[in-house]
This record gives sequence, C-alpha cells and structure tokens, in this order.
Amino acid sequence: MSAIRVSGVDVAFTTASGPIQALSDIAIDIAEGQFCVLIGPSGCGKSTFLRVIADLQAPDRGEVQVFSGNAAEARRARRISFVFQEATLLPWRSVIDNVRLPLQVGNWKSVGRPHRDPNELVQLVGLGGRESALPHQLSGGQRQRVAIARALVTRPDVLLMDEPFGALDEITRERLNDEMLKIWQETGTTIVFVTHSLSEAAFLGQSVAVMAAHPGRMSKIVNLDGEKPAGAIDRSSSRFFDITSDLRRHLETAEGMAMT
Ligand SMILES: Nc1ncnc2c1ncn2[C@@H]1O[C@H](COP(=O)(O)OP(=O)(O)OP(=O)(O)O)[C@@H](O)[C@H]1O
Ligand SMILES: [Mg+2]
Repeated sequence: MSAIRVSGVDVAFTTASGPIQALSDIAIDIAEGQFCVLIGPSGCGKSTFLRVIADLQAPDRGEVQVFSGNAAEARRARRISFVFQEATLLPWRSVIDNVRLPLQVGNWKSVGRPHRDPNELVQLVGLGGRESALPHQLSGGQRQRVAIARALVTRPDVLLMDEPFGALDEITRERLNDEMLKIWQETGTTIVFVTHSLSEAAFLGQSVAVMAAHPGRMSKIVNLDGEKPAGAIDRSSSRFFDITSDLRRHLETAEGMAMT
C-alpha cells in the first residue's frame, strides 16, 4: 500500500524578482513503511515538497494522497510529524515536557488515537535519565533527539525530516543515523528524510529520490532496498563507497539538468 502518492504537483511562488517554479510536475509513490531519502541542489524544492505532503503548502496543481486520504485529512488526523534542522524546543520546558507537548496542543484530544508513552520515547532516543533537563543543558545532538521523540509521540504514520542532522558534526550525525535506523525499524513509520549528505542518504535510504532545480523536479529514484538485507550497511565497505559514488553521479547529472 502507498503511504504517500504524489502526482503532477506544481508549486510556484511570486517574488519581487518574478515567479519561481519551486516544483514542477512532481510524481512519487512512497510505500507504507519505506525510508525515502530526498537529495538535490539547494533551492530545488525539497523543503517545499515536504511542506506539500504535510499540507503546509497547497500545490497549484496535482494530487497528494497520504494513506488514501488527502494531505489535509492526514494533517487533521495528526498522522504526519515534522522534524526540522533546528530542534525548536520550548526553552522553559524540560525534555519530557517538550516530548509531551504535541499531546497538549491543537486538536489532539478530539483525534482520539492512541499515543506513545513520552517516557518510553525518551528512553528510545537515548536520553533516559535526562527527563528533567532543560534544552540549554543539552548538546545539539541531544536536542535533535528530543525533537525526534516529540515527533513520534503522536504515533505518526508519516515522519517528515528536513535536514535534521545538518548542523551536527560527522561523528554525532553517524551515531544519530544508527539510532534513526533502529527507530525506523522499531516504529515502522514511513519516513521522508531530506539531506545534503550523500553518505547519510546512502546509509539511511531504502530509496533515494534525486531532485533537480529550476524548476524543481524529480530527476532519478534510486532503489537501495536490496543493498541492506540485514538492515544497515557497513560504512567502511566498498559497496557503501560505490553507492555513495553512484548517488554523487546522479546528483551531478541533476545539477547539470538545471534549466537556468
Ligand atoms: N515562501 C516562499 N516565497 C518565495 N519563494 C520561495 C518560498 N519558499 C521557497 N521559495 C523558493 O522556492 C525554491 C525552493 O525552495 P526550497 O526551500 O523548497 O528549496 P530546498 O531544496 O529545500 O533548498 P535547501 O537545500 O537550500 O534547503 C527556492 O528557489 C526558494 O527560493
Ligand atoms: Mg530546504
């Protein structure tokens, strides 16, 4: 079953210097439970695409289905969660109270779906014992862990992540990538994950969608499912190097496709 099915999506913005075609005829089908990574040059519309799926940006044309309903229904049913590059935690709330927040705001009470135990999620993201810490007492990586726990508390069917580890050092990012795979396997959530890091894309993606810019469009979808029969792939293997090189080539092709 498809978790996300997008077809013929266009989004244009009007700016002082003229119209920008952020997305042009975007089509993609993401199966339920899939880990889909999105890469592409800066400005090719990755964030706009996530916002369209989350019903935060209306397309000018085309269709977006999320679990056979439309994106607006999925948003109202709180089936979609977002994690951004900045953790955007409430500074006066402790770790556990930040994780509880989505259950206390908006229409959550009327949604009536079972949620996850915030304490269990804090454990899952490796912050057991830090429940009462305030955001300023945490490292950048720890703050992102809180943001991930907060995104999972509503038991979302779709998790959208926009460069969540972009501001972290390489080692912390790799550790969080390992944890992200475990979380994905534990929750079965469909994930769409934007990154500029090719090794992150190669490590996390079951499929990697490569976008091109001006106008923003899908250039290539690389299927990596068969590369990871046991879940993760060894980062020091020659196969990993080959996959990363392959993604680099696709990205270079996508960049060469820019119609500017
Ligand atoms: N609200 C807006 N108003 C006008 N133009 C916008 C708006 N949002 C995005 N754009 C433009 O749409 C295009 C796509 O932007 P978007 O943020 O989706 O790119 P991106 O692929 O996420 O880039 P990056 O990798 O730098 O985050 C860009 O040219 C951007 O300037
Ligand atoms: Mg972006």
